[in-house]
Amino acid sequence: MINKLKDMFKEVYKCEAEKVFFAPGRVNLIGEHTDYNGGNVFPCALTFGTYASIKKRNDKTIRFYSDNFKELGIMEINIDEMEYNKEHDWANYPKGVIWAFESIGMKIDSGFDILFYGNIPNGAGLSSSASIEVLTGVILKDLYNFDISMIDIVKCSQKAENQFVGVNCGIMDQFAIGMGKKDNAILLDTNTLKYQYSSIKLDGASIVISNTNKRRGLADSKYNERRSECETALKDLQSELKINALCEINEDVFEKNRHLIKNEVCARRAKHAIYENQRTLKAVKALENKDIKLFGELMNKSHISLRDDYEVTGIELDTLVEIAWKMPGVVGSRMTGAGFGGCTVSIVKDEFVDDFIKNVGEKYNKKIGYEAVFYVAQIGDGARKL
Ligand code: GLA
Repeated sequence: MINKLKDMFKEVYKCEAEKVFFAPGRVNLIGEHTDYNGGNVFPCALTFGTYASIKKRNDKTIRFYSDNFKELGIMEINIDEMEYNKEHDWANYPKGVIWAFESIGMKIDSGFDILFYGNIPNGAGLSSSASIEVLTGVILKDLYNFDISMIDIVKCSQKAENQFVGVNCGIMDQFAIGMGKKDNAILLDTNTLKYQYSSIKLDGASIVISNTNKRRGLADSKYNERRSECETALKDLQSELKINALCEINEDVFEKNRHLIKNEVCARRAKHAIYENQRTLKAVKALENKDIKLFGELMNKSHISLRDDYEVTGIELDTLVEIAWKMPGVVGSRMTGAGFGGCTVSIVKDEFVDDFIKNVGEKYNKKIGYEAVFYVAQIGDGARKL
C-alpha cells in the first residue's frame, strides 16, 4: 500500500512523496447516540480506512487531491485561507483540522502537497469523514513536530467537524479512529473520556458489516435534530434532578421522572439514550463473561430501541436487520453509526457467514430493489505513520 500511495502521488504531482500515513474507519458494536449524552460507547477501528502520501512545500500553498474524487482535481488553497468553502467539498475536513490546530496555537508556516485515497465506502456510516480528520491531525503533528497527544488530535478533529463542517457529532468516531487497537473494542465513557480496551474474542464468530447502500441523505440535519431533542429532555429533567447529561441516570430514575419531560417525542429520545447506555455496560460485562449470546441479545434490543424510540433506522436498515435475525448462526444484529441508511453490524458464527451473505443479500435485493454489500470486519490499530 505504501508503494501504491507513492506511485499515485508521483502521477498527480510529478515528484516523490516523502511520507505515507493511514487512519482507519470504525464500527460501533453497541452504544449508539449516547456519546453526546454523556454515555458509554463500544466502537472498534477497522483495517480499512484512509491513506495519504505527502510532501512538504516551501511556500504557503496546500494542494489537496483525492483519488476518490478525481473529478474535483487538485485543489490549491493558501494556508492563511482556512475557511469553510462549499466548493472545496471533501477538502473541508482536512482544512477544518488545520483550522482547529491553529485555534489552539499550532500554526503551520508552510504548505504541502497531499494525496488521499480511501477504501471506506463513502456515506456508509463507517466514519470516512472522521478518518480523514484524524489522519490530517496525525500528519500535522509529524510534519511540523507539534507537541500534541493523540487525545488532543481526537478533540481537534471533533472540533473541526462541529465548528468548521457544522455537524454536531459526539467524540466516538474520532476517538475510535485515533485510539483503536488491533483485536480490541474500546469502552469509552464520553463524559470523562476514561476508556478501557476489551479484547474481542467471539468464540468462533465474526463481525459482519452489511452496507444498505442507501446514501445518508438528510442525515446531518436529522442528527442535529435528535441532539436538540435530547437537550430539551435534559432541560425538563433538570427542573427536579441535579444532572448534567441524560446518561447520568439509569432506567429506574428515568421511569420515575419521565413525566417531567413535557414532549412525548423528546421523552422517547431520552429513554433510548439512557437505556442504551446501560445496555452498553451490560454488553461489555457479557463479553468479559464470554456470554456472547447475551451480547447478541443486547445488540438486538439496541436496534429495536433505535427503530422505535430514537427513530433513526428506516426501511433499508430495518430490512437488513430483520432478515439477519431470522438467519441461522446469527448471534445479534443492529444498525451502527448515526443511522438513516449506512450499515448494520452483525455477529455471525463462522460456519454460517457465507450463507448469511448470500441469503441476506438475496432477500434484501428482492425487497429493496438494489444490492447490499458485505464485509467480514477485522479490527485494526488506530491512525499512524506507515
Ligand atoms: C455519528 C456521530 C457519533 C455518534 C454516532 C451515533 O457516527 O459522528 O458521534 O453520535 O453517530 O452513535
